[in-house]
Amino acid sequence: MKKNKISKNWINKQRRDIYVRKSKAEGYRSRAAYKIEEINQKFKIFRGGMSIIDLGSAPGSWSQYVSNNYKNCRLLSIDYKNIDPIKNCNHIIGDFTDEKNKVKIKSYFKNKVQVVMSDMAVNTTGNKGLDAIVTGELSLEAMFFSLEILDSKGTFISKIFMGSSFNEIVTASKKNFKKTNIFKPPASRKDSKESFIISQIMR
Ligand SMILES: C[S@@+](CC[C@H](N)C(=O)[O-])C[C@H]1O[C@@H](n2cnc3c(N)ncnc32)[C@H](O)[C@@H]1O
Repeated sequence: MKKNKISKNWINKQRRDIYVRKSKAEGYRSRAAYKIEEINQKFKIFRGGMSIIDLGSAPGSWSQYVSNNYKNCRLLSIDYKNIDPIKNCNHIIGDFTDEKNKVKIKSYFKNKVQVVMSDMAVNTTGNKGLDAIVTGELSLEAMFFSLEILDSKGTFISKIFMGSSFNEIVTASKKNFKKTNIFKPPASRKDSKESFIISQIMR
């Protein structure tokens, strides 16, 4: 399919999409807000006053969702891209995998945190298999980082793709966390291989 035909299809799909319309009406920066909302409705993760890390946060709708719905949370988000300000949220511009940024994140919080959430995904190369592998590596790195910073009741949430790295991520979660769930929220497009892992420590 030609490139301009693909983008026309994408625009038409966006127009028909109820989540896109809802996000515009409710002031969310992207339809991704409803993925974290649906994950939270199912697993009851957030409460007021929590410390939360948002990896791969731009344009910011996951942090917006938490900030809009839970009082006095302390959010720290990171992305290559900048984001517009969000109440109770500080942002780092940079690569999460850079050790300097991991140190920055850890030193920002005096105590351990309650949630690490990652919606990180690589820029699509057109090769879905390769994208899934690289995004899987990011998810694993985020999981191991979360183990260093989550408190004894903490939760790790991450985008994962069905594909070659899926089993490795699930195995690592089952080894390191007490509870592992895989959930595809209704807001995640049916034709996408995207799903989410919800890993709970409960030591
Ligand atoms: C699907 S978007 C996130 C959408 C976001 N959850 C929201 O609700 O607005 C994925 C983001 O991951 C970011 N990303 C990918 N790899 C990253 C990395 N190594 N460090 C920081 N951000 C990264 C991309 O720049 C992109 O903005």
